[in-house]
Amino acid sequence: MAALAALSATNVLLLLELMPLTAAFSWTFQSAPTQCQNLSISISGGGTPPYSVLIIPSGSTPFTNGTEVRKIISKQFSSDSVSFQLAYPAESQLVAVVSDATEFGSGGASAEAEVVSSSDSSCIDASKSVNPNWFLNLDPSNQLVQCTASRIWWTESDVSGTPFFFGIIPGGDSFVIPESNINTTSDTGTGFSWTPNVREGATIHIVGNDNNGNGTGGSSRLTVGQNLQNDNSCLNNTSPSSTAGTPAGGSYPTDTSGDSTGGSSSSSNTNVGAIVGGVVGGVIGLLALLLVFYFIRRRSKQNRINNEKPVDLLQADEGDERPHRPGEPPEYYRPDPFIVPDPTVDESSASASARPLSSSDRPTSRSGTPDLASTSTGTRKTGAPRILRPINIIQHDDAGPSEAGGNKEEEAETIELPPAYTNIRK
Ligand SMILES: *[C@@H]1O[C@H](CO)[C@@H](O)[C@H](O)[C@H]1NC(C)=O
Ligand SMILES: *[C@@H]1O[C@H](CO)[C@@H](O)[C@H](O)[C@H]1NC(C)=O
Ligand SMILES: *[C@@H]1O[C@H](CO)[C@@H](O)[C@H](O)[C@H]1NC(C)=O
Ligand SMILES: *[C@@H]1O[C@H](CO)[C@@H](O)[C@H](O)[C@H]1NC(C)=O
Ligand SMILES: *[C@@H]1O[C@H](CO)[C@@H](O)[C@H](O)[C@H]1NC(C)=O
Repeated sequence: MAALAALSATNVLLLLELMPLTAAFSWTFQSAPTQCQNLSISISGGGTPPYSVLIIPSGSTPFTNGTEVRKIISKQFSSDSVSFQLAYPAESQLVAVVSDATEFGSGGASAEAEVVSSSDSSCIDASKSVNPNWFLNLDPSNQLVQCTASRIWWTESDVSGTPFFFGIIPGGDSFVIPESNINTTSDTGTGFSWTPNVREGATIHIVGNDNNGNGTGGSSRLTVGQNLQNDNSCLNNTSPSSTAGTPAGGSYPTDTSGDSTGGSSSSSNTNVGAIVGGVVGGVIGLLALLLVFYFIRRRSKQNRINNEKPVDLLQADEGDERPHRPGEPPEYYRPDPFIVPDPTVDESSASASARPLSSSDRPTSRSGTPDLASTSTGTRKTGAPRILRPINIIQHDDAGPSEAGGNKEEEAETIELPPAYTNIRK
């Protein structure tokens, strides 16, 4: 536990060192967002007043019947802090974006923060869902794809003035979605085309605003989809992204299990001993991780080697069940006992008696010698059992290298059978 804490402290310190703070100023939640309690946000490090904070719901409603009670909260303030009641139920999530007068999102966006429960539920009325003044729509609906144009549209009669839209990446960049060539079509109302220059996989909230206020058009949470053509031509170093490092907002819970973002509020009173201990712990932890990784790699490499079979062309194949002694070629290369039928007897009846000899222990189709039973065309007749004379074919292979060339195969093959030495009188 202590090692883990040290590790995460190191990470925070390293990140703080490595990541230049992109925001012009910083802001923090003065306490964890809590159901029906005041949420206070304070500004530090400058910025140009007036400031504004936008709180948007994230994730699904905690009510199993699907009732959504969370309204987008938008507040303007000129001092360096603001406090307002958070009418969000416990176990729901929110994302907060703080801006100064220069630019939307200049203070950065928080990660998805978890609302902590409290005994006060007076601000929650779960009997009915809340609705925005108007609805922002997407075409294709509920879908954004990296570098692919989507249409953002609304119903002209519902809005006040010309709507504008925010794109908010939790724990990352926030921006005003550029609008151009607004037109009206019969099926997709009034709107414009936007090509999201946001990398696939990023979570993004789109928030609709009009002259009546920020967030009046509701918000939509989407995951940027993969471009099937792998088009990333719209992306460059300045494209909005989920900025690596500590998200804005300081320390606050991000899920029900009590995990939280790395707190910068506590770092001011961290003493040197804790920092050194943290660094040492972190380095040891990193080394241990690398070692574990190395051994896993080694193990899997070893397994691969063990699983590799040496290539042996003479190795018996799967169907070869006849055992063979060392020095003897595998079955496929062994000459078969060749059964010469008695020419005086009808061939068709040979199948009955000749087959068991050849097919009992090997597939006939693989035989290098002609299978008389399968080539016979005569009709089956009943007759005396054929008398078979067993003869062995021996292929002599001591005559030098065999002749190469496929055209030889066309010629009729001549098999020369040596005299049956067994017949020679002693
Ligand atoms: C909550 O904030 C409001 C101002 O937004 C203030 O009037 C009220 O007293 C605060 N409540 C508590 C409990 O701090
Ligand atoms: C709405 O957002 C814009 C852009 O950040 C900001 O200038 C304005 O003050 C906000 N309005 C309110 C009522 O917060
Ligand atoms: C939804 O469920 C909550 C409690 O889980 C309940 O208070 C509320 O009345 C329900 N809303 C509707 C519309 O049924
Ligand atoms: C409206 O604009 C979109 C792109 O912004 C375009 O594809 C469409 O053809 C336009 N429709 C009309 C009716 O002008
Ligand atoms: C990055 O792309 C945006 C458009 O997506 C463009 O406006 C900007 O100039 C580009 N920046 C660089 C450094 O290429």
